[in-house]
Parts: sequence; structure tokens; C-alpha cells
Amino acid sequence: MIPSLTVRRIAADQGAVFRELRTASLREAPYAFGATLEDALSADAASFDATAAERAVSFSVSTFILYTEGHPAGLIEAHFDDTAARRAFVCELWVAPAVRHLRGGELLVDTASSWLANEGATEIYAWVADANRNAMRFYEALGFGPTGEHRRVTRAPEQAESLLVRHVPTTSQVYQQ
Ligand SMILES: CC(C)(COP(=O)(O)OP(=O)(O)OC[C@H]1O[C@@H](n2cnc3c(N)ncnc32)[C@H](O)[C@@H]1OP(=O)(O)O)[C@@H](O)C(=O)NCCC(=O)NCCS
Repeated sequence: MIPSLTVRRIAADQGAVFRELRTASLREAPYAFGATLEDALSADAASFDATAAERAVSFSVSTFILYTEGHPAGLIEAHFDDTAARRAFVCELWVAPAVRHLRGGELLVDTASSWLANEGATEIYAWVADANRNAMRFYEALGFGPTGEHRRVTRAPEQAESLLVRHVPTTSQVYQQ
């Protein structure tokens, strides 16, 4: 049976769920993120509680959680940067291996993009490590293309990452809480 997948914005009391998903993602796919598992494990529970509380209500940063049959199984962050251009980003994307290739990643990106569009974004950006070929193909399949912008990966300066962008379609579905 194909499991049903749903995505909801993080709730203020989901610090523990957020911590569980972040540590699971950093443990399973350390190559995919700027932060390290040690960073997440050394942060205290209260900091995850504070992050969840902020991301549940903020207009500039949020986290969305993927559920399969009611169980947390993935996440994504959406935020605006604090430059004058106020660019909109998705990051920290992870789907648990057991439920990959079921369109959970697409649902997370689309939900986060709709929320950003609702807050005024017309373009959605994502940094992807050049070595992470799966994520690169995933984002390309979703209509993201190269911006030509590159930088070194903070965690591993010998590696590069590229900035991808997808334009928000004018018919984009408005995010509903
Ligand atoms: C990248 C990731 C989020 C994709 O999640 P997912 O739920 O499996 O992706 P979806 O099922 O929504 O895939 C949508 C489309 O993306 C493409 N795609 C997804 N995974 C792919 C892979 N491993 N290789 C090539 N294309 C892929 C396919 O075109 C797919 O459509 P299809 O299944 O009809 O072929 C998941 O593999 C993951 O968590 N990886 C580890 C963490 C990571 O790399 N995060 C990204 C950081 S930038």
C-alpha cells in the first residue's frame, strides 16, 4: 500500500520533533547540509523549542514537516534572507529513506514555496552541493535551474555548492495554514 503523505507547518510545541528530524537528517545525509550532527547534538533541547516556537509564527522563517500515516518523516526550512533583495530560500530538506521516491520531497518544496510566495516571493532559491547529484537531479526535476552563483561549502571548503532558482508561477496555489 502506498503511504499517504501530508505536510504541515511546524507547531510551537514541536521542538522535540524538530530535534529528532534534524538529528536524523544530519546522521543519515551529512553530505547534504551546512551544519553537522555534532552541532545538533550539542545544542540543548531549549534551543529547538525556541526555534520551533519562532518558526510556527514568523513571517520570515518557517519549517514544514512531512508526515507519513501521521508519523514525522521529513522536513524543510523556508526563509527570507536579510539582504535588501529579501531573497526567498528553501533549505534543510530531508525525506526519510523509507519514504523516498513517493513525492514527499516535492510536496515539501511546493508547500514551502507556496508559503514563501504568499509572503511575497516571486523566485525561490536553493543552495545544493555540487557533489549531491541526487538532490541536484531532484531540484532540476522540479523546475529549478542554475543561477550561475557558486560558493564554497562552509563545512567542507574543498567542495562547492551552486545556487538554483525556480520562478513562482503566477497561478501558484496560495499556502493555507
Ligand atoms: C532529495 C530528496 C529530498 C528527494 O526526496 P524524495 O521524496 O525521494 O523525492 P520525490 O519523490 O519528491 O522526487 C521527485 C522527483 O525528483 C527526482 N528525484 C528524486 N530523487 C532522485 C534521485 N535520487 N535521483 C534522481 N532523481 C531524483 C525524480 O525526478 C522524482 O520524480 P520521479 O520519482 O517521478 O522520478 C531525498 O532524496 C533526500 O532527503 N536526500 C537526502 C538529503 C538531501 O540531499 N537533501 C537536499 C539538500 S540540498
